[in-house]
Amino acid sequence: MSNKFYVTTPIYYVNDKPHIGSTYTTVIADVLARAHRLRGDKTLFLTGTDENSQKNLEAAQKAGFDNLPAYLDSMAEIWQTTWKTLGLTYDDFIRTTEKRHHQGVERFWRAVQKSGDIYKAEYERDYCVGCEAFKTAHELTDGRCPLHPNKDLEKVKEENYFFRASAYKDDLLKLYHEHPEFIEPKSRMNEIRSYVKEAFEDFSISRESGKLACGIPVPDDDSQRIYVWFDALLNYMTAVGYGTDDKLFKKWWPADVHLIGKDIIKFHCALWPAMIMSAAKSDPALLDETGAVLLPKSVHVNGFFTVDGQKISKSLGNAIDPLDLIQEYPFDVIRYFILREIPYGEDGDFSKTRLAERYNSDLANTLGNLVNRAVAMSRKYFNGRVPDVKPEDAKTALPDTEWGGAECLEILWQTVDRYLDASRADLALESIWSSNDCSLNSANRYVEQTKPFKLVKEEPQKAALVLYTLLEACRHFAWMISPMMPDIARKIILQLGQDPKKEEQKSAKDLRQWGGLAPDSELPEPAILFPRLTE
Ligand code: MSP
Repeated sequence: MSNKFYVTTPIYYVNDKPHIGSTYTTVIADVLARAHRLRGDKTLFLTGTDENSQKNLEAAQKAGFDNLPAYLDSMAEIWQTTWKTLGLTYDDFIRTTEKRHHQGVERFWRAVQKSGDIYKAEYERDYCVGCEAFKTAHELTDGRCPLHPNKDLEKVKEENYFFRASAYKDDLLKLYHEHPEFIEPKSRMNEIRSYVKEAFEDFSISRESGKLACGIPVPDDDSQRIYVWFDALLNYMTAVGYGTDDKLFKKWWPADVHLIGKDIIKFHCALWPAMIMSAAKSDPALLDETGAVLLPKSVHVNGFFTVDGQKISKSLGNAIDPLDLIQEYPFDVIRYFILREIPYGEDGDFSKTRLAERYNSDLANTLGNLVNRAVAMSRKYFNGRVPDVKPEDAKTALPDTEWGGAECLEILWQTVDRYLDASRADLALESIWSSNDCSLNSANRYVEQTKPFKLVKEEPQKAALVLYTLLEACRHFAWMISPMMPDIARKIILQLGQDPKKEEQKSAKDLRQWGGLAPDSELPEPAILFPRLTE
């Protein structure tokens, strides 16, 4: 049975172009989307740009644009082109200046209003444009925002609309209790629980229009614009038809996974579900058939990247543009590195030295070497073909070796699925490379233990079995790594003499079955997958 899978990234501010940090979150979304497509799930991968924000306006002015829409268009184009150039397979790209978004935001605002959760009040607070958020005294360090210490805070005193967020404290705590899977990694749960208990207050959700030339007007009150976060979170719904296409909305909502960075966890894990709980009181489209509120199923939180140990910042000028990186390395290599190097959820460092180390050891020596040896030896000893054996007979290993065989690969597939369900591409890759009995490492050991180049002279039938096992294992490894390294996977499948496009059409069950590689089929001339780095 095919399931649906809806995954989102944050929508990015367009005050800058993509860097390695935003690329990281988007790559993880791409991995999950590819993994689900491969499983046969109906998949929707959404990304986009957050355009109704004051910091975009300031960036436009700085860049010399007096026409904000022209600036937004040019930047949205840069984001889309970057993701496309990198081969990221998003299905939809939402811009919050689009009409479909405005219509949905209006419907949502009215629903929350109808639920009695919007009121007007006088407000005086410090506003950090860097975060696009008000800051309470306990969120400041020496009177400054710890995330943007170089930016002066703005004192804001005005009458705004407020969202009665505090009314949802208990419901949120209940949500976290009943659905521990709502936040991944689990270690983030305590942080959000204590935030909700201790500091979750009513939110100001509008600003006076005069002070904010951008933003969606408050329905029926042109003097106010909707606060950017209130509108931004709604992109996840408006992109799938909330307010414009009920059928589409029913098909995709709720989101299965919102991927975010740790900087925006409060908005996604507290404000967002509280907003939906409120609107659902007046809008039945937000309830399931049992009357339960349709909340996103989970929020997965990644840590932050530093570059050579330093925070990525505009002022340091150390933001790595992924389009520059791909001049040096194929993007699959970068994908492998960022996914493998950093335990998901933790902070990590981007260093080219580490990248080169992993390239040589994990990619060239382990993966590249295995595929190359398996293909080259089969070609050499079996007339350029896959050895002609019964795949059944190659399911288990030769005696006195450590190779775990086809059953072990089946378990590895399940392990990889389980890790990817929690966005742990790092652990999925680690298992593929080094789990005990049927990883790339153990396949390389199997070559060393069985020595097919010697065996072929003494017991050619046994050598044929070993080489079939290795080639078929390479086929499994290729599909296992394909969500993380789609181009390399494709190249491996080609080296095995198969057509990746055709294979992709197979059901997940068939693809994962032992024996997908036809005995006695032709093997093309092998090409080096990972040429040695010179320096
Ligand atoms: N526009 C808001 C999000 C609204 S979502 C309804 C926003 N945009 S942002 O452009 O600042 O992007 C923030 C996201 O980019 C982070 O949550 C994270 O996913 C990603 N990253 C930005 N810098 C990063 C690092 N240095 N490291 C890892 N991820 C980073 O906030």
